[in-house]
Amino acid sequence: MAIRNFNEKTLTAEVLKRVGKAPDKRTRQIMQSLVKHLHAFVREVRPTQEEWFQGIQFLTATGHMCDDKRQEFILMSDTLGVSMLVDFINYGKAGKATESTVLGPFFVEGAPELPLGASIAKPGTPGEPCAVSGTVKDLKGKPVAGATIDVWEGGADGLYDVQKPDGTNLRARFRSDAAGRFRFNCITPVSYPVPHDGPVGKMLVACGRHPMRPGHLHFIIEAPGYEKLVTHLFVKGDKYLDSDAVFGVKDSLIVSFRKKNAAGEATCAYDFVLKPKKK
Ligand code: BEZ
Ligand code: FE
Repeated sequence: MAIRNFNEKTLTAEVLKRVGKAPDKRTRQIMQSLVKHLHAFVREVRPTQEEWFQGIQFLTATGHMCDDKRQEFILMSDTLGVSMLVDFINYGKAGKATESTVLGPFFVEGAPELPLGASIAKPGTPGEPCAVSGTVKDLKGKPVAGATIDVWEGGADGLYDVQKPDGTNLRARFRSDAAGRFRFNCITPVSYPVPHDGPVGKMLVACGRHPMRPGHLHFIIEAPGYEKLVTHLFVKGDKYLDSDAVFGVKDSLIVSFRKKNAAGEATCAYDFVLKPKKK
């Protein structure tokens, strides 16, 4: 029997049947779910042809805005809350383990490894000097020695080094010492907008949303036998904590940067807890 003459009612079932032939089980599951929800979305919204084309133009512009320095699709995933949803599903919450949050687009593999106590800010970098210290431990409180601690932050101008032509700054890798301790200097993080000069920026405006993120310091902490931790420390008191453009704030990651040390620097202290690797 010829399979044709579909209508609004019968089309979805046929598309589902066809993608249901995917030999790989996971591909089949993903494609069937995608078709189911995409068709339901179109049925609910009932777009005009012009609106559908506008949607296609938006995705096209998003793709055109992607290269090795700018990833507009990740930004779209972040600002629509999908990155955090994937993070909740995969990292979740485990006892006292430090909570994770969004990676963001500004991590760079291979940042310089610096000795404990060094500053990630090149001399003359604007911003309030800040001394960060803490420990890396496991769920039982045992120090994790030799953990790699990647840290990066935006500048006082709200921009990351990769958004400017001046080379590496405000990022480095450290290793925890035998007692699991670490310390380094940076500048107190300030709130800044996610890149909003592209299609995602237009989407935010159309939704009446701002592009701001509360001030934060990024971390990736890794050690053999433990889950990789991708997280931030957020600045307590920041006015954007309740409206982060990428939904990344968790209470357990909000830290005071106010207390001054003997050198007059702002300080921030945090004890990270890693969870064992999934078997
Ligand atoms: C960031 O914190 O660096 C970031 C996260 C998500 C989108 C844009 C920036
Ligand atoms: Fe950031």
